Amino acid sequence: MATDSDHPMKGIMTSPLLSRRNVLLGGLGLASTATLAACTSSSSGTGVMPSRTFGPPTPVSPSPGQKVLEKTLTARPVSLDLGGRTVATWAYDGALPGPLVRATAGDFLRLTLDNQLPADTTIHWHGIRLPNAADGVPGLTQDPVKTGGKFVYEFTAPDPGTYFFHPHVGVQLDRGLYAPMIIDDPTDPGRYDAEWVVVLDDWIDGTGTTPDEVFKKLIADGGPANGGGMGGMGGMDHGSMSRMSMGTGPWGDAGDVTYPLFLINGKPPTDPDVLAAKPGQKVRLRVINAASDTIFTVALGGHRLTITHSDGHAVEPTEVGAFYIGMGERYDAIVTLADGAFPLVARPFGKTSGGQAMAVVRTGAGAAPPVAADPSELAGQVLIGSQLRPTEAAKLPGKEPDATVDLALQGSMKPYQWGMNGAKYGENEPLTVRAGRRLRINATNMTMMTHPLHLHGHTFALPSGLRKDTVLMAPMQSFAIDLDADNAGDWMIHCHNIYHAEAGMMIALEYR
Ligand code: C2O
Ligand code: CU
Repeated sequence: MATDSDHPMKGIMTSPLLSRRNVLLGGLGLASTATLAACTSSSSGTGVMPSRTFGPPTPVSPSPGQKVLEKTLTARPVSLDLGGRTVATWAYDGALPGPLVRATAGDFLRLTLDNQLPADTTIHWHGIRLPNAADGVPGLTQDPVKTGGKFVYEFTAPDPGTYFFHPHVGVQLDRGLYAPMIIDDPTDPGRYDAEWVVVLDDWIDGTGTTPDEVFKKLIADGGPANGGGMGGMGGMDHGSMSRMSMGTGPWGDAGDVTYPLFLINGKPPTDPDVLAAKPGQKVRLRVINAASDTIFTVALGGHRLTITHSDGHAVEPTEVGAFYIGMGERYDAIVTLADGAFPLVARPFGKTSGGQAMAVVRTGAGAAPPVAADPSELAGQVLIGSQLRPTEAAKLPGKEPDATVDLALQGSMKPYQWGMNGAKYGENEPLTVRAGRRLRINATNMTMMTHPLHLHGHTFALPSGLRKDTVLMAPMQSFAIDLDADNAGDWMIHCHNIYHAEAGMMIALEYR
């Protein structure tokens, strides 16, 4: 993602008229961006932000008696076998997904990133309410970690839940650099017999291109000219293609990149991960969408799933046949297993090529499901996660907001420009809040595409009270999201489509 050195200018956009105009237009447009940039130089105040440097992190010590988990994660090039196809990529400890990091809420984590990549990197601990200095955003919370360099992340993981981690540099997330992170609840009896971590991904790296090349092409082509499921439909606008081929669905135009493969736990359907248990056993699924550009619909053939958590927070248990999961979202579900072999399918929403992601759940005899398994659950009603209800205990305590800010998600595919509040990251004005406030963010998606909106360092509450850190916003959808400003620092808010984020669909939330 963009760093300050990429964007030395930090624009000011104080005119409500200007910001209103951009909100109404939705798009950014080079002209308005240029206008904003021109404004900057003549504006007073905080205008130009110098490139920030941080130096090594200040060591943090665990409190007396606190349990400490230490681990080193080595980011390095590796060649992986994906169902008989060899791909050169980057991964943590050479594994896909990377190694699980697991601790108990309240534990002290000391996680060392060893950068053996031929590029700068960092690690962001997605969804964890940690101290700002450990958040992993280059230019905002730390210096980028150079090739051969190390960085020690130290923090206490306060909240139980299902999380993951990934770099916060460029489009590195779309390589193999991601891994699950589980924070256990010391008070949770765990009323299930087994637990499966299910990590979803869309895969292109090493298949004749790299995510960096994909990004360059998106910019150069002004959108997914031959991509995004356009196959053979050259000349037709990407949006209409998606609507035509996908029929109805809540997410409109859902992705920009054409992926040849979709993976569950690092494996394609031709060589699926096999999750084994006994018939009648109760299993907790921890589903993580680590994809960069793909919303999935998830179902386990022949089963109903009871959703229990969203982004780590407890929800009223809700039985579903299938559910959507956006990039960066996590859902936990309990399922009681039948006897046989069943497809656990994650079907890319709005994409017509590359097939689907699939793992096999096996509790008994029976033929393995085919690569193109089509569980009937996918044709039924599909849960939209933001409609889940929180448990009483998981609600943000009721309180009127004492500060309100607007957040417009803007942009277009042609030209490929994405931003927030009138400009791309580095040129848009940070949102600000004072510590102790209940902040309301009136977020509006002004585009014809769905975006997973993600906030660092906090969780927010939807109007229902549902706590999340990543929420899918459908085209033209608005949400008033509330948060307690109880974690001082400079934080990112961004679209978790990593190509949108890299194009500038990010904004900072700064404590003043
Ligand atoms: Cu998972 Cu700022 O990201
Ligand atoms: Cu987006």
